[in-house]
Formats: sequence, C-alpha cells, structure tokens
Amino acid sequence: MRATAVAGLAGLAGLSCAGETTYHNPIIPGFHPDPSCIFVPEWDNTHFCAVSSFIAFPAMPVFASKDLVNWKLISHVQNRPSQSPTAGNLTRSSGGWYAPTLRYHEGKFYVINVDVDAPSPSSGIFTTTDPYDDAAWSDLLPVEIGGYDPDIFFDEDGTIYSQAAITINDDPFTTEIQQFTIELPSGNTTPRKSLTNGTNVQPPEGPHMYYKDGWYYLLLAEGGTALDHQVTISRSRKPTGPFKLGPANPILTAEPDSLFQTVGHADLFQDAEGNWWGVALSTRSGPEYVHWPMNRETVLYPVSWPKGEWPVLDHVRGTMSGPLPPQNLDVPGTGPFVKDPDHYTFPRGSPLPRHFTFWRFPHEEKYTISPPGHANSLRLSPSNANLSQFPAFDPLAGQTFVGRRQVDTLFKYSVDMEFAPSSKGEEAGVTMFLASERHADLGVVYSKGAPHLRFRANGPDAPATVVKPLPKGCEDGISFQIHAFNFTHYSFSAGPRHGGRMEDIALVNNTLFSTSFTGVFAGIYATTNGNGEEGTPAYFKNWRYQGLGQAGAIDKDGSVEYYPSNGQE
Ligand SMILES: *[C@@H]1O[C@H](CO)[C@@H](O)[C@H](O)[C@H]1NC(C)=O
Ligand SMILES: *[C@@H]1O[C@H](CO)[C@@H](O)[C@H](O)[C@H]1NC(C)=O
Ligand SMILES: *[C@@H]1O[C@H](CO)[C@@H](O)[C@H](O)[C@H]1NC(C)=O
Ligand SMILES: *[C@@H]1O[C@H](CO)[C@@H](O)[C@H](O)[C@H]1NC(C)=O
Ligand SMILES: *[C@@H]1O[C@H](CO)[C@@H](O)[C@H](O)[C@H]1NC(C)=O
Repeated sequence: MRATAVAGLAGLAGLSCAGETTYHNPIIPGFHPDPSCIFVPEWDNTHFCAVSSFIAFPAMPVFASKDLVNWKLISHVQNRPSQSPTAGNLTRSSGGWYAPTLRYHEGKFYVINVDVDAPSPSSGIFTTTDPYDDAAWSDLLPVEIGGYDPDIFFDEDGTIYSQAAITINDDPFTTEIQQFTIELPSGNTTPRKSLTNGTNVQPPEGPHMYYKDGWYYLLLAEGGTALDHQVTISRSRKPTGPFKLGPANPILTAEPDSLFQTVGHADLFQDAEGNWWGVALSTRSGPEYVHWPMNRETVLYPVSWPKGEWPVLDHVRGTMSGPLPPQNLDVPGTGPFVKDPDHYTFPRGSPLPRHFTFWRFPHEEKYTISPPGHANSLRLSPSNANLSQFPAFDPLAGQTFVGRRQVDTLFKYSVDMEFAPSSKGEEAGVTMFLASERHADLGVVYSKGAPHLRFRANGPDAPATVVKPLPKGCEDGISFQIHAFNFTHYSFSAGPRHGGRMEDIALVNNTLFSTSFTGVFAGIYATTNGNGEEGTPAYFKNWRYQGLGQAGAIDKDGSVEYYPSNGQE
C-alpha cells in the first residue's frame, strides 16, 4: 500500500487574477500519449481521459479528474487478456493499441481503437457503465476499421459515424481520413469513403468530430507525431462533408523555441462552467529533440470557442493559466494520482499497485506478493526470455518484468533485492526499459560459478557492459538505485541492503530511450537468459520512486528550468 499520500500540491499554484488559476504542464506526464478526454456531468462533474499504451499491459489507462490538474488512474480499458487475446501476441514494440477515442453516450462510456499489427479484425469498441471498475470494461466488440486512430461520433439522428486514418497508395506514411458508419450492437459498418486530407500535411490522423452551433467540426493531427506535429480544423453543415478548412490552420503546434515540442493529436471538451479546454500530446525535448525519454505526454490548454466561430487554442507551455475548476482530490478508486510518488512494501494480501505495468500479457504466477517465508516482498519468478528479443522470441511466453512509468524529469527509483542464483544465466535486477531493443539493466547474474553484479544496456550507442564481483555486504541483499540526476543522464548504483556505501556502476545517456512512440519505465525483472522457465526467484522489497523535479521551460541561455515534483521535500 502507499505509505505516503501526497497528491497534487505542486500542481497547483493558486489564484492569479479573477477566476484564472495557474497550473503546470504536462497534466499527465510520462508515457501517456494521444489523449482523448471528455467531461461527464452525470458522473459527479468529472473529466475522464484515455491514452495510448501500445503493447504495455494493462492497456489504455483511464484517468479521472474533478479539477483538470490532479488525474487519478481509475481503470484500464483492456485489463484482461480475454477481452482481446491477440493484443498479447505482437512482436513489434511499437505495435498494439494506438490512439483510443473515449466518448460518453446515453449512460455508457465507449472506447474505439485498433490493435495495430494484430490480425484483422482486432479493432473495435469496448464499453462500460462504470469506468472506475476494470471488470466492467467489456470484451472487444469487433468493428472493421482498416486503419488507425478511429473516432466515434454519435449524431443527433442516431447515426454513429467513425473517421479514421487509412494508409493509402501502399505507402505507410501516406494516409487519408476516411469515414464510415457503425451499427450497434452488431458492429457492422458501411463501406469507407474518402473524407479529407485536412491541410495536406501528411499524414493526417487522430480525427475527432464535434457538433456545435449547427456545424460539424473535424479536428485532425497532421505532420506526424514528431517536430512537425500540428492540429488542424475544418467544418461542414453535414457530418459527411464536404469539410471546409478553417482560416487559421494549423490552430495549434509547438512554439519553435519551447521545451514543449511535438504538440498535436488534440481533443476538445467543456467543463461544468461551460469553459472549453483542449488536451494534446507533447514531448519535453526542446527544439534540439535529442533528450526525451518520457516521449509523448498529455498537456492541457484553455480554448475559446465563441458561438458559430472557430475555436482558438492557447499555446502549450510549462506554466499556464486558465479558468480551472476548484482543486478537488475527491475522486473515487484505488489507483494513485499520476504524479504521486511511490513507496510500496508489498504487505501480505495487498494487490499490485494499479499503475504497475507489464510488457505484453504477464504470466500472473510469476508475480507473487509476500509468499510464505517472505513477508513484505514481491517475488518475481524468472522467464526464459530476458528483456531483449531474439530469433526464437515468443511474445506469448512472457517476459518477467514489472515497472512504472517515469513521470518526472528528475527522480530517484530504488528497490532492495534478495536473490541467491545458483545456475548459469539466472539474473534479476532493475531496469530502465523502453522496449526490447532499448533497455539498461543493473542486476545480479550467475556466471562463472558465482553471482556477479552486471550492468548491461541494449540499443545503439549503449554504454559498455560492466561485470564485477558482488560488492561486499551484498550477499544477503542488495539495494539498487536509478537516479535521473540531470536532463540528459541516469546513474545506476548498487550497495548493501542494510546500509553502507552505494557504488556508482554506470551512467546512461537518455538518448538511448529517446525514440519511437513510447516512453520509458523504471522497473524490475528476472530471467534465466534462455535456460528455461524454471529458476531461482528474486524477492524485491521497499520499492520507492520519488520525483525530484519537472522540466518546465528552457531559459534564453539554453538551460532547463524546473518546477517541483509532487511530494518533493
Ligand atoms: C501468434 O501469432 C503468430 C503469428 O505472428 C501465429 O502464428 C500464432 O498462431 C499466434 N498465436 C496465438 C495463440 O494467437
Ligand atoms: C489525400 O492525399 C493523397 C496523396 O496525395 C491522395 O491520393 C488522395 O486522393 C487525397 N484524398 C483526399 C480526400 O483529398
Ligand atoms: C549531466 O551529467 C553528465 C555526467 O556528468 C554530463 O555529461 C552531462 O553533460 C550533464 N547534462 C547536463 C544537461 O548538464
Ligand atoms: C547523448 O548521446 C547523444 C547521441 O549519441 C549525443 O548527441 C548527446 O550529445 C549526448 N548527450 C550528452 C549530454 O552527452
Ligand atoms: C537474452 O536471451 C537470449 C535468448 O535466450 C540470449 O541469446 C542472449 O544472450 C540473452 N542475453 C544475455 C545478456 O544473456
């Protein structure tokens, strides 16, 4: 259980002027891209967001907030393999669940999405009548979509439209927004029709439709999810078009010199007071775009949208102000707020914390809290597979790994481990993990007849492997620490569990993790390195993660400015 209950304080700076409150971006930091958000008055005036998760599991985290600043993890859309079994059988680290669209209609929450790379038709709709309960999310209702980033729009006449990015001309980087209708409950669709390319900055994607003041508005992401990412809008009197472009496209993109780059993939919603807000993804890389291990995070900005006119979106910055609802941490559910620090001791009978995440489907028997004789520990039983992929890799066989997203630019993560390996290849330890192709691990491995300390990283320009005898005093337990101590580097260190000197073992430049679509996890693993599914388990204790600063801006001289992480002393 959480030993500390620190939430949200650093995220609120108080009233500035009449009704305007300052707040910090990102609102949902770390690997939480492609936000789709709604306001649901029937659920106690609460805002809800769902985000992409690729092959991480449980998949598609759902957050709730009453004040738009403090976001609690309340469920995952796919939390059981049986809801969509093919999602665990993907090889590519950047396949899986891309951008969901979350909507609420007549008492039900809908998430429509595509499991990219999975055999067709692993796409469709999940529904729930209680977003706080994992078990209430339905199995996938298959809907043939044929592309990615599907939208779902309930028109007043009862027609359900979907818009999606469809790859065309046999070129993976050329898409077109196409439209079809969906019949429920069957999931049957009408044939897709070309709808628009937006402003023709390829690839158009992430469509969302809104109806307001007699107009159907279509919001798109264009330019790809890196430095050219942007938001465009068009509108029509009919949901089927033709859509006429707005006069001020792109209506949102990153400011050229900002820390906050790649701004795009937006969604818009109103709060209880009728104020409009937008969310988008953004990467805190600065224009150099070299160091960005957390990759695409969720940001919030005020929107002004007068009747009959086009919406105007505020620029995304680290410190913002707007007419926020009053601070309110009274959100149901057992998950943490996303910016909470961790301190877990795994007492008997406690569940795994809700934000602990696996890579593909876990084999649950490999993760046990406080087994007999090992109170206050999380036991990891090794997988045959290590954290890397290899020619015979079977995605369904499982990799014993569990982690939590890095959500602070600077942080310390530490955990103690009891592990007595006795045969070749047995290994357990801590990792910064982006994907099978890119991770950095510090652990104990059995080699040459004895346990050794080993640091090993995978990926281009990875630092050299370090193998050394176990530090003195570590035979009965070792303590590991990963420290993101500046904007560009992590240090990995180890020392005796019961105190004593921590020894720095390796420095890792975070460009190792600055790639692709996902963001990095801090976590633990256990493997036999290809010597079978049976082996010596490892017992992890005293898991801590504490943020030590959030990058909020870049100064004129190029240095990064920080604001405090939640719970930071
Ligand atoms: C997993 O996917 C592979 C193809 O990539 C397929 O051959 C295999 O049958 C799938 N297994 C299951 C259980 O779906
Ligand atoms: C979108 O652009 C592609 C590539 O240029 C083109 O083939 C397609 O016809 C366009 N679609 C629309 C609806 O304009
Ligand atoms: C972070 O520390 C490393 C190692 O001391 C150093 O090489 C790097 O330049 C530092 N980065 C910044 C942004 O100061
Ligand atoms: C980290 O590595 C990248 C790629 O090799 C390099 O461009 C960058 O300068 C390095 N950063 C630091 C602070 O050394
Ligand atoms: C990871 O596992 C594969 C397959 O068993 C093996 O080839 C590779 O050497 C392992 N890596 C390490 C560092 O042991």
